[in-house]
Amino acid sequence: MPRAYSITAEAIATESERVGGDVNKFDISNVVQMDQLELRPMGPQDVHLKILTVSVEHNIDHAASADTGNIAEARGGKIYPGNSAVGEVLATGDQVTKFKAGDIVVTHCNGEPDNFGFPLRIWAYDQPDSVGWYAEEAMVGDWQIIPAPLSCGLSLWEIAALPLRAPTAYHLWRRGLGIYRVKVSREKHAHLNVLGFGGGVSELFLMLAKAEGHRAVFCSGSPARREALGKLGIESIDQKAFNRFTSRDDVKAFRGEVKKVTGGEGFHIICDMLRGPVFQAGLAAAARSSVNVSAGWQLDKKIGYDSAGLSVKQITLDHTHYETIEGCAAATELYGSVFKPTIHQEIYSFENLGRACHEMYLNVQTGIPIVRVADELPDSVKSIA
Ligand SMILES: NC(=O)c1ccc[n+]([C@@H]2O[C@H](COP(=O)([O-])OP(=O)(O)OC[C@H]3O[C@@H](n4cnc5c(N)ncnc54)[C@H](OP(=O)(O)O)[C@@H]3O)[C@@H](O)[C@H]2O)c1
Repeated sequence: MPRAYSITAEAIATESERVGGDVNKFDISNVVQMDQLELRPMGPQDVHLKILTVSVEHNIDHAASADTGNIAEARGGKIYPGNSAVGEVLATGDQVTKFKAGDIVVTHCNGEPDNFGFPLRIWAYDQPDSVGWYAEEAMVGDWQIIPAPLSCGLSLWEIAALPLRAPTAYHLWRRGLGIYRVKVSREKHAHLNVLGFGGGVSELFLMLAKAEGHRAVFCSGSPARREALGKLGIESIDQKAFNRFTSRDDVKAFRGEVKKVTGGEGFHIICDMLRGPVFQAGLAAAARSSVNVSAGWQLDKKIGYDSAGLSVKQITLDHTHYETIEGCAAATELYGSVFKPTIHQEIYSFENLGRACHEMYLNVQTGIPIVRVADELPDSVKSIA
């Protein structure tokens, strides 16, 4: 049986007991544990994958700490996580026409598209019975994979950073820009100020804004990540200079900095994947008619705001989730040309995936964390590994 990581409600309860219920003291590697997985038999439209490499996604920390909900418990006590992977096709069911053995593919994690293609649920998270890809092998439906753009100029590890975060950023950007353009046409205002707060999704969002000619600013607490984005022409603001917006005075000071940086205008499109104190900072940075987009609630699930104030300033708050499958394919086309992800300096071994999750939890990584799953790589990717 292939090795695979799982998260159990029991492991969460044991870790919670160990730290006296203080979620900030969780060691995520005590919860994300090596297990085994029995793959389902191959169906006619299934594809059997060897997983080559995966990125660690933030929802693993949410699942393992149960800070935004106990998803392992809700799914019957155990989940197999992992919704972003690069794999090699080993075999295909007899009705599969788009893929063949030897192809290299990336996954998307739209678990069940609604009538408009948006996910009702996320694969390997809240989609019932979905089995994730932090595993040596996987059985997926052919609708769940997209050919990997191996000649896009990125390394295999950089490609692995993108299957979940790039479609999310792509969706946030097309929504934010589209909504802004409903209000303010291009001929009235072509060049926009765009702000993103720290995190892998925000970084990619800003790369899209920059690639389309706008001014992009990254407000992050990580010097390494600010520096990496600086090399792509993305400006930055040190979030820690404003104490991560702990008090009203910090938010006020941040408003002053935004005024200075934007000549009093503010930001027209803002990506906030964190909420909590970051939400107030996003509002403080908002220009008239701006759009604040988010697909995350890392620091808080609830937000509060003055509806009258936002109405008067014509500010739109937009809530998004993951992309449609077509949107995921479109985002994949932009690997390398637009999306140039910053990856963490260590490529973790499969045995160290739990530590990678924990270091993400501690927020000590210098970029998106990547885990090499397969020791032996196929010839087709050796030159980019
Ligand atoms: N709905 C969806 O489809 C979807 C898709 C992807 C992600 N998400 C969610 O969106 C959130 C962000 O995802 P991501 O992939 O961008 O995560 P990520 O790459 O792990 O980035 C998280 C960032 O949070 C920042 N941070 C940590 N503690 C903070 C604090 N106390 N105050 C302010 N910032 C803090 C850090 O930025 P700095 O240290 O650089 O400031 C860190 O880089 C997660 O909750 C994730 O689950 C949702």
